[in-house]
Amino acid sequence: MFNDYTQASRELALVNSPVDARRFNLSVSRMNVPHGHLASDEEVIEKCRRCESQLLILRYPTNRVQLANRLALSSDQVMFQADTLVYFSKDLESKSVDSKSTQKSNDWNFRKADDSDNNEIHKLSEIIFEDYPNHYRANSRLRLEDIRDGYVEWAQVGLLDQKKLTVIVEDRSANKVGFALVAFDGDLAEIELNGIHPDAQGQGAYSALLRWLSNHLAERGVKKLCISTQIQNERVIRAWIRSGFNLDFSLNTVHLMREN
Ligand SMILES: CC(C)(COP(=O)(O)OP(=O)(O)OC[C@H]1O[C@@H](n2cnc3c(N)ncnc32)[C@H](O)[C@@H]1OP(=O)(O)O)[C@@H](O)C(=O)NCCC(=O)NCCS
Repeated sequence: MFNDYTQASRELALVNSPVDARRFNLSVSRMNVPHGHLASDEEVIEKCRRCESQLLILRYPTNRVQLANRLALSSDQVMFQADTLVYFSKDLESKSVDSKSTQKSNDWNFRKADDSDNNEIHKLSEIIFEDYPNHYRANSRLRLEDIRDGYVEWAQVGLLDQKKLTVIVEDRSANKVGFALVAFDGDLAEIELNGIHPDAQGQGAYSALLRWLSNHLAERGVKKLCISTQIQNERVIRAWIRSGFNLDFSLNTVHLMREN
């Protein structure tokens, strides 16, 4: 979550990722370097060097401008930049709640999803994330179907998670055209996944979803709503800016591969 990258006091941890490992049939580790962390680039590099996994997914703040070059020079792993993530957030505290927009928004209806929406969430996430640009797709060793299925699984597991909220967007004919999966951490909420069916895009559904979520979450006492995406996902970033989100920080994702 957002907090993983803002808590500089956390110990740098190299962790196994069994979910990625099972999906891609590789040993996979991850390491996230938070903003303002005191570890030097050398310490980060040393940890990476000790990692024996076939794939290490490293995320670090973009202001560590020399880290990639240093890693490339000192690593016996094949290393490449896989994406740049931008993190945005919106302050919900000062927001006055418009009760009408928590119910309906002109052409769109919003409702909390439950277990019975599993098939719809499966179908929606499959089509929405079919060609979604992300760090996995930068890696030719990973199969595109497995990458897409990873998003589907994420959406489905999230739907069943009682601590999270899944919201479905319906059009006037009650067709399910989009969804958002929201996670919570104290008074902070983060949209983990969201999207609109390609046939319903460009008609304001997503902007309406952001409005509805902002109001609904403010009503629930959430103070800050966070979200992230790849820097090239210009359309979604424009929608956030229109909805009052601000840029907080950015991260590079690097993949380090071992031959074995
Ligand atoms: C990004 C995404 C969520 C946008 O959904 P959307 O419903 O098309 O978004 P909106 O309709 O609110 O806005 C899209 C565009 O349509 C325009 N628009 C909005 N209402 C409109 C209307 N009534 N008539 C014409 N155009 C309209 C907006 O101005 C916007 O223009 P822009 O792209 O030039 O900024 C959608 O493209 C998507 O699901 N993409 C794939 C998954 C993804 O990227 N998810 C986000 C990951 S963080």
